[in-house]
Amino acid sequence: MTANAEHTESSVKSMDDIMSLCKRRGFIYPASEIYGGVNGFWDYGPLGAQLKKNLRDAWWTDVVMKGCDGQLGPNGKPVEIVPLDSSIIQNPKVWEASGHVGGFNDPMVDDKETKQRFRADHLFGITLIANDLYKDKEEFDKALAAGMEIRFRPFMTIVASTIGEVLSEIQKNKDVRKQFRKKLNGEGPFNFQVYDNVAGGIAISFEIPEGNEPFSAIAINPVSSWMLENESEKVPSPFTGKAGSLTKPRAFNLMFKTVLGATGNMEDNAAYLRPETAQGIFINFKNVIDTTRVSVPFGIAQTGKAFRNEVTPRNFTFRSREFEQMEIEFFCHPDEAKDWYVFWRDWRMSWWQSLGLEGENLILREHDSDELAHYAKEGAGTSDIEYKFPFTAPGFGELEGIADRTNFDLTQHAEHSKSKLDYFDNTRGELAKNGQPKGERYLPHVIEPSAGLDRGVLALLCEAYTPDPDRASGVYMKFHPRIAPIKAAVFPLVKKDGMPEVAAPLAAELRKRFGHLGTIEYDEKQSIGKRYARMDEAGCPFCFTIDGDSLTDNTVTARNRDTLEQERIAIDKVGDYLAQKLGL
Ligand code: GAP
Repeated sequence: MTANAEHTESSVKSMDDIMSLCKRRGFIYPASEIYGGVNGFWDYGPLGAQLKKNLRDAWWTDVVMKGCDGQLGPNGKPVEIVPLDSSIIQNPKVWEASGHVGGFNDPMVDDKETKQRFRADHLFGITLIANDLYKDKEEFDKALAAGMEIRFRPFMTIVASTIGEVLSEIQKNKDVRKQFRKKLNGEGPFNFQVYDNVAGGIAISFEIPEGNEPFSAIAINPVSSWMLENESEKVPSPFTGKAGSLTKPRAFNLMFKTVLGATGNMEDNAAYLRPETAQGIFINFKNVIDTTRVSVPFGIAQTGKAFRNEVTPRNFTFRSREFEQMEIEFFCHPDEAKDWYVFWRDWRMSWWQSLGLEGENLILREHDSDELAHYAKEGAGTSDIEYKFPFTAPGFGELEGIADRTNFDLTQHAEHSKSKLDYFDNTRGELAKNGQPKGERYLPHVIEPSAGLDRGVLALLCEAYTPDPDRASGVYMKFHPRIAPIKAAVFPLVKKDGMPEVAAPLAAELRKRFGHLGTIEYDEKQSIGKRYARMDEAGCPFCFTIDGDSLTDNTVTARNRDTLEQERIAIDKVGDYLAQKLGL
């Protein structure tokens, strides 16, 4: 058992607060809000759309245009990546070959009584494991360390995708706490002591009644698929608390279906909205080889929408039904796959760090062998870059997966389409009499770094959110200047005395020079304090204010969002100052 951590409201940022700022400032709105919304879909407002574009542009620039930001590959050569923009709808056979028609399923459970539905692997059980048995926490710790046996028989269940979500549900939901009190004979506050890695990855938390004694303990762990399959009648419904109304898990295909053509029907003319951008790349592998000068090793990259009919979309944009991916399929010789896998895994991790996701909130996690996807091979690397979102804490949620997909996809598409997708490599093979290699024919292996753009934006929003009671806004968004949606703001101190006449041209000049990177805000309404507060919440890193002195000495006040420092700089140096601060 590893060390534990106190689970308090203050140690984790509040997702409700972050969502409310996103709405208030125009980052993200619920889709179709005026019609009551539509579950699993989100709209990006003016600030959110620019933030998302900045992240997508940073990826495109660093991956495609600069070839891994100029870093050399494991072969000592520049990394070659070309872009692609493939269709969302493809021939349905693509999805048969890729395995999505047969295997892209989530197990789903229905509650026969309430008609509600949830993902079988998103059900957590709460089991009472010690009630008054232990004198105090120390005694319980000793029993755990000595390998106390725990038999999981949940007295209640909660639909959640992470333990962090369960913990916040327990803290927020009065009904849940009422049930706990009843079961635990406890009173008083619900403080959690969270233990990781107990009995293979579960967390144990304690409700400590007033006076700390008697001592109660519960286990929170995912309800096993075995239990749902074999003893579903014993599992309490997460909606009613009563056992006996849950069905066994059933496979539910996640692809959205649509009909092609005005006279088409769902049986004969069905097509699918792509559930990932990756397959569009595989099916164009030969086209790219035949029409460009690329040679293996090289990568094809694309960004674009993907659609999954998630059973339980949740956690803001984290699990949506429509989202955007940024995917690279990197083709290499099978013998070099391991080296390229390590290269991509490490470079992708450092890329996210370069945008401000540093420190203990970001981890790189190699998959265990029992987590292998259908395309992955035993021994071939797969890892996730994971971020500690407020709703996953103390755990982490996936931001990007890096997988060695071997030659699975090219083999499948070659077989199903009856096309030759192998590659002739004239730099390999035995040497001919003329001293030149005879060449080698092979199906390249593929390393796939696959990132979620919306999840990236969400991680950047969560990371940036910085409560600060000393500011008028009470909070500021500490975006890395590279991805901040507003790069700078220009304000006249007051809307008179010739100040707007100086400020507006300065804003226009900055817009001309920096407008391709983000917004340059010009605002003359309300007090200067309120305007600064608005920019703090928008995450604008620099504000420039024209005041009375500016009119005589041609200087402005430059305000730094993070340090709150203000300095006077010459008005004709504002552009260079901003360029230097933005690292240009
Ligand atoms: N081509 C491989 C692939 O699609 P994935 O792990 O299913 O792999 C890649 O998806 C990334 O797409 C994830 O790491 C995540 O960031 C994002 N993603 C997946 N499902 C998502 C959803 N329902 N909502 C938002 N982002 C999602």
